[in-house]
Amino acid sequence: MSERIIPIADHRLKQASGGTFIEPSGRLLDTRVRPLHDLRISVTDRCNFRCTYCMPKEVFDSNYRYLPHSALLSFEEITLLAKLFVAHGVEKVRLTGGEPLLRKNIEDLIKMLSDLQTPDGRPIDLTLTTNAALLARKAQSLKDAGLKRITVSLDALDDAIFRRMNDADFPLSDVLNGIAEAERVGLGPIKINMVVQRGINNSQILAMARHFKGSDKIVRFIEYMDVGNSNGWKLDQVVPSADVIRLIQTEFPLEAIDPTYSGEVAQRWRYKDGSGEIGVISSVTQAFCSTCTRARLSTEGQLYTCLFATQGHDLRGLLRNGASDAEIASAIGNVWVAREDRYSELRGLEMEGMPRPKIEMSYIGG
Ligand code: GTP
Ligand code: 5AD
Ligand code: SF4
Ligand code: SF4
Repeated sequence: MSERIIPIADHRLKQASGGTFIEPSGRLLDTRVRPLHDLRISVTDRCNFRCTYCMPKEVFDSNYRYLPHSALLSFEEITLLAKLFVAHGVEKVRLTGGEPLLRKNIEDLIKMLSDLQTPDGRPIDLTLTTNAALLARKAQSLKDAGLKRITVSLDALDDAIFRRMNDADFPLSDVLNGIAEAERVGLGPIKINMVVQRGINNSQILAMARHFKGSDKIVRFIEYMDVGNSNGWKLDQVVPSADVIRLIQTEFPLEAIDPTYSGEVAQRWRYKDGSGEIGVISSVTQAFCSTCTRARLSTEGQLYTCLFATQGHDLRGLLRNGASDAEIASAIGNVWVAREDRYSELRGLEMEGMPRPKIEMSYIGG
């Protein structure tokens, strides 16, 4: 760990004496007693897909104003912030976007982040979520840079449905080639995220299960969420995870298994015949806010404590105005201990009232 990191124990004590929670280990806890464990870093707000549920073409067209390069956190800035988060207890760092492989020289950032260690000397879990359009070309250099594993977003195995959903006429075969290459270079375990939308790709649930069963790849079926303001989300487009499990059980017997770690987003199920596992992510029908340990850093250095937050905390401003590492670490700690978010738990109540503006997922990072 670099000398520039100032111990934050005093700060934690201060928070504790101010009436907030800390763990015996000294880790920060928010107002709902949730530790800070994951950091999701969005490295670009751009994407080469126009998934209809995320960056619909009508909104993200040629007039859409993406962030200028000067607004983006530099790799040095990202790495410094990530170090401070790791000193605060973060053990998993996920690069997202937009499409993270579009960020120029992303391998350089991965090299810098892969050196980070937890305070007790363990390497962090460094991973990335990609649409895999560029994965066949980049898998080897990502692996060489120190990336451990990868998650691929893939919503259909039918080429026509896939092209319709990515709305960029991107062929399925390139994504499958990307996944094969990631496997070949050892970027595992590979997880496949499928956002399920009723009437759009629910016909693909069994096809995905069949295709990846026995392959060591873990498909996670995600309930379509009301992120951002532009996807026109409606509750009746959500396929509850319980229905997904019931459907897959008609063909392959499943049994629930324990989470790999406390606060895991996906509920895990294994095929009874021993041919692997799947996951379901049920943020609409079974909110998991009570164990949510995730902080999000936007492309321009705003810290968000919820995927559905309306306001961030400007860490880039601190960085660029000469704040010391201790001051930035303290600011991060103050944001975390004050955190109250539980949007998915409150969604039902809120739907009956006024909808509120939200931040687009491509900006805040999935
Ligand atoms: P692993 O580290 O592999 O377990 O992945 P993960 O649990 O971090 O999941 P991943 O990053 O692949 O997230 C999968 C999907 O779950 C995301 O794309 C979101 O759709 C959803 N998701 C992840 N985190 C949250 C969260 O904090 N809140 C909500 N509502 N959804 C989330
Ligand atoms: N609901 C659920 N998941 C979503 N993702 C993007 N938009 C949504 C949404 N509205 C997922 C993508 C990708 C990850 C970054 O977020 O499929 O796997
Ligand atoms: Fe791009 Fe991923 Fe959003 Fe699709 S879901 S538009 S691939 S960022
Ligand atoms: Fe966490 Fe917010 Fe998602 Fe709840 S809605 S799980 S608090 S990110």
